[in-house]
Amino acid sequence: MVPDPVTGTFSGHRGLQLEEPLLFEQDAAGRTGVDLPEPPAVQDRLGALRRRGPIGLPGLSEPQVVRHYTRLSQKNYAIDMGLYPLGSCTMKHNPRLNEKLARLPGLGDLHPMQPLGTVQGALELIDTLATWLKTLTGMPAVAMSPAAGAHGELCGVMTIRAALADRGDPRRRILVPESAHGTNPATAAACGYIVEAIPANARGRVDLAAFKTKLGGDVAGIMITNPNTCGLFENDMLEIAEAVHGIGGFLYCDGANFNAIVGRVRPGDLGIDCMHLNLHKTFSTPHGGGGPGSGPVVLSQALAPYAPLPFVVHGPDGFALVEHDRGAGATGKAFGRLKSFHGQMGMFVRALAYMMSHGADGLRQASGDAVLNANYLLASLQDDLSPAFPGPCMHEVLFDDEFLTDTGVATLDFAKALIDEGYHPMTMYFPLVVHGALLVEPTESESKDSLDRFVAVMRALAARAKSGDAAYFHEAPRLTPRRRLDETAAARHPVLRWRPPEPMGEAAE
Ligand SMILES: Cc1ncc(COP(=O)(O)O)c(C=O)c1O
Repeated sequence: MVPDPVTGTFSGHRGLQLEEPLLFEQDAAGRTGVDLPEPPAVQDRLGALRRRGPIGLPGLSEPQVVRHYTRLSQKNYAIDMGLYPLGSCTMKHNPRLNEKLARLPGLGDLHPMQPLGTVQGALELIDTLATWLKTLTGMPAVAMSPAAGAHGELCGVMTIRAALADRGDPRRRILVPESAHGTNPATAAACGYIVEAIPANARGRVDLAAFKTKLGGDVAGIMITNPNTCGLFENDMLEIAEAVHGIGGFLYCDGANFNAIVGRVRPGDLGIDCMHLNLHKTFSTPHGGGGPGSGPVVLSQALAPYAPLPFVVHGPDGFALVEHDRGAGATGKAFGRLKSFHGQMGMFVRALAYMMSHGADGLRQASGDAVLNANYLLASLQDDLSPAFPGPCMHEVLFDDEFLTDTGVATLDFAKALIDEGYHPMTMYFPLVVHGALLVEPTESESKDSLDRFVAVMRALAARAKSGDAAYFHEAPRLTPRRRLDETAAARHPVLRWRPPEPMGEAAE
């Protein structure tokens, strides 16, 4: 046996990190993990749609499949393994109590088409969660069905569009600050609006003067992320609200970063008309960008009638669902339906479990600790890295790449070296308003010891970069199952599907 050229081991494994072929490469005809009787001959009505050949799945035993997925999971990084400093994504601990409650048979086994009389408890749970969300935000209404933050944005902008159409005043432009999350301009464009960017000022906030020059009678509204993606509180909100309301537009707030202010600021008091909440970021449900997440949208009185169907109401015989835009409970103005059924029940259970187990004081403490932890990192790293903006931050801290000037090390190289140290990289090159951004969000559940270990590694890496050891960074990561990939080739020519290798001797095209 000769050693593997990459690992130097005879097996190709790295200690307990095991290498193996893809499942398709392990295929053995006729091997199976189950022993089923021959199906009886049945008459079906599939006609020409009936499958003619084999389904094309690999033949595998159960232990092979179990080992494969267990090995894959060990190659992954997770919040359950260590600090996950990915800024803007809030990789928050998912309390096990939430999981336990979501798996209770009366909640986990619900079917969305059950008769209402059999799901009164579930409807009450949705209604109670809605009450918590309205109370925490100081807003009068909430649409519960959106399945993610970005889906909530779609819901919000469609609500604004419906309200404008209803008053016979369709408008063309939506203003989006440069410090907003990327999904904001994407949503506005998807809803048919012309997106106009507003620059950030030297303090990383919306440039008020530039904002005011963009206002006009065809502006449907502004979508502003607060706290913004620079990790800073937009403290001109009242003035922004007044200005946008003054021209008849709406103030959309991307409330994904509500985890920094929950229990301290009520968005309703800031003149906000509409705001989505990412339950995974603020209320600890598992991360589900695009779903199966949950992104309820709180709405002002002016927008509430246009909220999508269905929604829960208190009827004469208990809780009821308004499924159609007519009859009891309907407003006659709902813009339609965003998704099938009522929202992500599993996420609702988890979020409410988090809220009720923390209580109002606990939620307030969580936002305080999140901000404290981020500022601890800022204070600990400000002499070694380069903070992008002066002053304290909110729940995440933003550095630019000035500390790497003339080192030959780029933000990407620095992040790759962090992987070898056992950390998932921070968010890189976002937000775009600063050069070579490194956005770090520790979240509230990291202990001081955990933050200190991270700080020590970050300082040591910064010192190594400044000492002229660029080659070390260019080679990173060294200790991962795969080394650095050609990211351009991966983006331009993604290989998304396994295909059998060409038989020997047959030339590739
Ligand atoms: C500020 C902000 N807005 C919007 C989103 C989009 O949310 P989602 O990934 O749930 O679609 C995120 C994602 O975390 C975010 O951080």
